[in-house]
Amino acid sequence: MPLPKPVYYPPFNITRSSHSIITSRDLEASLDFYEQVIGLVLTERDADTLYFRGLEEVCHHSLVVKRHTGEHQAEAIGFRVYTEEELDKAEHFYRSKGLPASWIEVPYQGRTLLVNDPTGTPVQLCATMPTEPRMYTNFQDFKGGAAMRFDHWQIQTPNVQEQTDFYAEMGFRVSEYMVVGDKLMTTFMFRKPGTQDIVFLENPGPRLHHFAYSVSDNNSLIRACDIAGILGMGDVVERGPGRHGPAGVMFVYFRDPDGHRVELFCDHYFLIDIEVEPVEWDMTKPGLSIRWGLPAQECWYNETTAFSGIETKQLDYERGPLSTLETYLAEKAKARAAKAQ
Ligand SMILES: [Fe+2]
Repeated sequence: MPLPKPVYYPPFNITRSSHSIITSRDLEASLDFYEQVIGLVLTERDADTLYFRGLEEVCHHSLVVKRHTGEHQAEAIGFRVYTEEELDKAEHFYRSKGLPASWIEVPYQGRTLLVNDPTGTPVQLCATMPTEPRMYTNFQDFKGGAAMRFDHWQIQTPNVQEQTDFYAEMGFRVSEYMVVGDKLMTTFMFRKPGTQDIVFLENPGPRLHHFAYSVSDNNSLIRACDIAGILGMGDVVERGPGRHGPAGVMFVYFRDPDGHRVELFCDHYFLIDIEVEPVEWDMTKPGLSIRWGLPAQECWYNETTAFSGIETKQLDYERGPLSTLETYLAEKAKARAAKAQ
């Protein structure tokens, strides 16, 4: 399981994870959920599209929700590059690897390059967006979880090693990672100085598992759950609150009205210095994924969002069961029964 060597001077400069584009069957329901529960700011809307940003974000959007009548889908994920010049370098990089790269027109974004990584994940790259006021001191307007800024995605991929090697070539570094034996199962990779911009989990893919916004304090997580409950949307809370093992943050996962999964969390540690070694986690040890809180339900592993028009590739090996709420409860019941005898 060789972790790729960090590339400090990559062929082009991605600065951070930037935005997600997802679909909705009911824009008004999506608007309610993302404004009232997650606490995003609606920057702009038209008849078929909602553009949201976090309270501390100045760029036009970090979440785009598009009207769509079929099964919920993710259209693409989006990274920012440092300058326009980096886009041309990115085009050369992708084409030199035989990967798709084309220029597309996207509202409220500068020149945008659409590429596909080796697994097929559609990725938009752009250098600029129009700016809007930061709303992070408009305390009187805060709603729900008061999401501050977009932070990362978790993408399921059938080959974490391959994805990790490819993203490392583009300058992404590994902050933490999970293994089973010598097999890489999950990697947390970053460009901005936090623990992650993108997380790869070995499962059929490419599929979007979740996208995540950071909040300013742990109470915001509870407030988001409370607001969901009081608005009659309590069942959108899928997992948590709890505290992750890797990166150590408190979290809650929600499902939006279409089934897209969004995480609120507080907050990652800072990571820049090059001598800091990635943290390894052994996936076979109990209690790995959370410090406390119930394990995930089966649906947390199995229900994900497909990317529009991209085929989901299966794992090419048989993997053992993942630790879920169901297996956790079964083990607890077995232990109780053994104790009672
Ligand atoms: Fe996450």
